[in-house]
Amino acid sequence: MKVSVIGAGNVGATCAEVLAHHEIVNEVVLLDIKENFAEGKALDIWQAAAVNMYDTRVKGSTNDYSKTADSDVVVITSGLPRKPGMSRDDLISTNAKIVKSVTQSVIEHSPKSILIIVSNPLDVMTYCAYLNAKFPSKRVFGMAGVLDTARFKAFLAEELNVSPKDIQAVLLGGHGDTMVPLPRYTTIGGIPVTELIDKSRLDAIIERTKKGGGEIVSLLGTSAWYAPGSASAQMVESIVKDQKRLFPVCAWLEGEYGLNNIYMGVPVILGKNGIEKIIELKLNDEEKKLINESAKAVKEVMAVLDNLKD
Ligand code: NAI
Ligand code: 2OP
Repeated sequence: MKVSVIGAGNVGATCAEVLAHHEIVNEVVLLDIKENFAEGKALDIWQAAAVNMYDTRVKGSTNDYSKTADSDVVVITSGLPRKPGMSRDDLISTNAKIVKSVTQSVIEHSPKSILIIVSNPLDVMTYCAYLNAKFPSKRVFGMAGVLDTARFKAFLAEELNVSPKDIQAVLLGGHGDTMVPLPRYTTIGGIPVTELIDKSRLDAIIERTKKGGGEIVSLLGTSAWYAPGSASAQMVESIVKDQKRLFPVCAWLEGEYGLNNIYMGVPVILGKNGIEKIIELKLNDEEKKLINESAKAVKEVMAVLDNLKD
């Protein structure tokens, strides 16, 4: 299996390193527009192979998409990250141009690939890739929910002094402050989280999760990469090994959850065909209200993209 990662910056290089370190695929191509940057990162990751004991070949390319030819999966991380005070939506115009041109080059060389978008604003950049790839929507989707639930799990694990491995959680909505973690569907070793924590603490953790990206930006001056890179690699693994894992993924909705023509986070099964199935949960009135608010926010940013001049 061959995976290409576009953008060899913080998230892209981390994703490539995790794919190699865990031997998720046998070939990774890292591509960046910055001269020699991807080559340098790829060489460094390859030189760690003898230490970390893996065989995955990692190669770099400066904007030469022929090296990415016939990739099974392509992860698109190219674009600017958020700086302090900048919202994900501020990034839209710059990153839309990048995602558009990258998508066109990717599909020219890998017409059968599955695309995982990471660039922000996530829901809208996934929509941008979909419009330009013209692939079926089950082969174009975005990474956000795996990261956002990982953050939710990390905060819960800390609060309850339990292993994050035992926490299962679902989250819906856009990748932004309107995302909707679902406590009703969150369990610790099968026990509903609501039995283990009082409401005010849980509400505080949900709020922290929603602002989890911003918390890292304010600490580091740029956005996160270890968790986003690992989360993207986990999605790749489910596809290339046809694991059929259930993850919250930014997917194109056509009637699911009563929503149409929108890219938004929902639980899906990921396998060799990409999105094998979208899972529709029964939501209560409060959850429906929150999802609809999140969808409204995402639609507003999608409209910005629709109205952008080329
Ligand atoms: P970074 O600045 O470290 O890396 C981005 C790379 O993209 C740079 O090396 C740059 O040279 C490259 N690039 C720019 N234009 C390109 C083009 N046309 N073709 C190829 N490469 C190009 O940024 P970082 O931290 O890796 O973040 C990447 C993106 O991912 C940002 O938009 C960020 O907001 C987003 N992100 C999304 C997350 C999510 O949950 N979906 C989580 C974390 C970051
Ligand atoms: C994050 O959630 C900024 O989307 C990025 O870390």
